[in-house]
Amino acid sequence: MKQNGAHIIAVGNEKGGSGKSTTALHLAVYLLHQGYRVATVDVDSRQQTLTRYVRNRRATMAGADRRVPMPKHVHLSTAWGDSVSENERAERDIFSRCMAGLRDEVDYVVIDTPGFDGNLARLAHGIADTLVTPVNDSMIDLDVLVRVDPVSGEPIETSPYARNVQRARAERRATGAPGIDWVLVRNRISNLGSRNASQVQGTMDRVAARLGCRVANGIAERVIFRSLFSIGMTVFDPLEAHLLGAAPSMSHVNARQEYRDLVAALGLPMVAPDSAAARAMQRTARSNDGSIVIAS
Ligand SMILES: Nc1ncnc2c1ncn2[C@@H]1O[C@H](COP(=O)(O)OP(=O)(O)O)[C@@H](O)[C@H]1O
Ligand SMILES: [Mg+2]
Repeated sequence: MKQNGAHIIAVGNEKGGSGKSTTALHLAVYLLHQGYRVATVDVDSRQQTLTRYVRNRRATMAGADRRVPMPKHVHLSTAWGDSVSENERAERDIFSRCMAGLRDEVDYVVIDTPGFDGNLARLAHGIADTLVTPVNDSMIDLDVLVRVDPVSGEPIETSPYARNVQRARAERRATGAPGIDWVLVRNRISNLGSRNASQVQGTMDRVAARLGCRVANGIAERVIFRSLFSIGMTVFDPLEAHLLGAAPSMSHVNARQEYRDLVAALGLPMVAPDSAAARAMQRTARSNDGSIVIAS
C-alpha cells in the first residue's frame, strides 16, 4: 500500500460502450490475482454494469463451487431528493466517507463511472491518482475527447468531458496533491489493419499531446469479452469450456497479455511482491470474502 493509502484508479469517458466497466473489472481482477487488496466502486447508478458484473461473478462461484478472488464492492447511488444542492452535498458526503474507509482497507480502489456527466462522476475523477479512459477505435469516439479538424486531423477544441478532467487536475494541483495521471487506451482495435486504425492512432497521439495525457497500447476487438459479463469472469480467471460455451482460445491468451501490458503501462505503485503473494494465497483460501455494500 502507498504511504497515504490506496491508489485510486478511475475509469472514465463520457461515451457509453467504450469499455469502461469491462476495463474496470479486468484491472481489479488482475490486481487481485497479484495478491493486492482491491475494492471496486460503481458510481454508475443508472447502468450498474460493474455491480452486476460482480454479482454474476459471485453467482458463478456459488453455482460451480469455484474459487476466484473477489473485490470488496461498493455501489454508490445518486441522491434523488428535491434539492439539487442537498443531493450534491449528500453525494459528496457519502462518497468521501466511502473513500476514506477504503483508503485504509485496500491497496487499490477501482472506480467505474457512467457515460455522462454528473456529481458522482466528477467526484470520482477528482479523487483519481490514475484516470484510465478507454476509447473505441473510431474517429467518432475520439471526437468525444477533442474535436478534430476532419481534413488536417489537428485537434481544434477540447470537449466538455476533457474540460472537466482538466478542471479536476487543476483543482488537485491547487491543493498540492500529485496530479492525475491520465491514460487513454484504445479499445476494440480491429484485427484487420485499416486506414481507420492508423488514422485513429495518429490522431490519438495528437489528442494526447493536446490534453497532456498518455496513450497506452490498446485492447483488440475480441469475441471472448461478450461471454465474460454474464459469468462475471475476466480473461485472468481460469475459464473452463462449459462456462464459456466454447474452449478458451489463443484470442483469450492474447487478451490477457494485452491487459497485462496495459497495467504495466499504467505504472501503478506496487507493494512488495512477497506480502502481495502471501495475501493472494490467503484470499484464494477464503473464497467468499468479497462483499457487496449498497450505499444510498
Ligand atoms: N476489447 C473488446 N472486444 C470486444 N468487445 C468488447 C471489448 N471491450 C468491451 N467490449 C464490449 O463492449 C460493450 C460495452 O462495454 P462496457 O464495458 O459495458 O462499456 P462502458 O462501461 O463504457 O459502457 C460490452 O458488450 C463489452 O462486452
Ligand atoms: Mg459501464
